Amino acid sequence: MTTFSIRTATATDEGFLVDMLVQAVNWLPERNWSREEILTKPELAHYVAGWMRPGDFGLVAVDPADRPIGAAWCRHLTAADPGYGYVSDDVPELTLGVVDSWRHRGVGRALLRAVLHAARERGLPAVSLSVERANFAAKLYASEGFHTVESFDDADTMVAPLADRSSADADPSVSANP
Ligand SMILES: CC(C)(COP(=O)(O)OP(=O)(O)OC[C@H]1O[C@@H](n2cnc3c(N)ncnc32)[C@H](O)[C@@H]1OP(=O)(O)O)[C@@H](O)C(=O)NCCC(=O)NCCS
Repeated sequence: MTTFSIRTATATDEGFLVDMLVQAVNWLPERNWSREEILTKPELAHYVAGWMRPGDFGLVAVDPADRPIGAAWCRHLTAADPGYGYVSDDVPELTLGVVDSWRHRGVGRALLRAVLHAARERGLPAVSLSVERANFAAKLYASEGFHTVESFDDADTMVAPLADRSSADADPSVSANP
């Protein structure tokens, strides 16, 4: 059985986080925007540019050879430079991506649980995100406690409140057998 594990993201992970941002933007295969194109758009690049800034935190999933295979991270974007899923300055926005060859094996859900646990440990009130409604990831988020707080043409802003989820406080496993 192939296993993966999850570790804390560090400043050296910026390049891989950019890779995962590219995956998140291109969840629709026909979109296929290049890394360069994405990094030249401030409204996309600001999810990762300058990683790690104060307040940034995240997790990286790695394969048995320690190669990164997915990441989930949070960044505080403020009213002065809001992200697509902005709700408030004290609620960070989540980005999630898993490399193609590792999808459907539980990596995404494990990362999501781990990053929510990390956010709860930091005493944050909630985590938010923006997801295009047609992306099945919206169902994954809903199943892990996110609910829609605002809807736009084809995307929803979703929020996972953390303060009242004490029952979910158990530390998610840092290693998993999908
Ligand atoms: C979204 C993403 C992170 C999920 O990661 P993953 O490792 O494949 O997800 P998991 O294996 O943990 O599966 C989570 C759930 O989603 C379901 N799922 C996975 N891929 C699916 C698909 N293509 N269509 C429908 N459901 C799917 C799984 O069945 C699972 O549900 P279950 O536990 O009820 O069976 C990954 O597909 C990805 O990186 N996509 C591109 C980037 C992206 O869309 N990011 C989010 C932008 S908001």
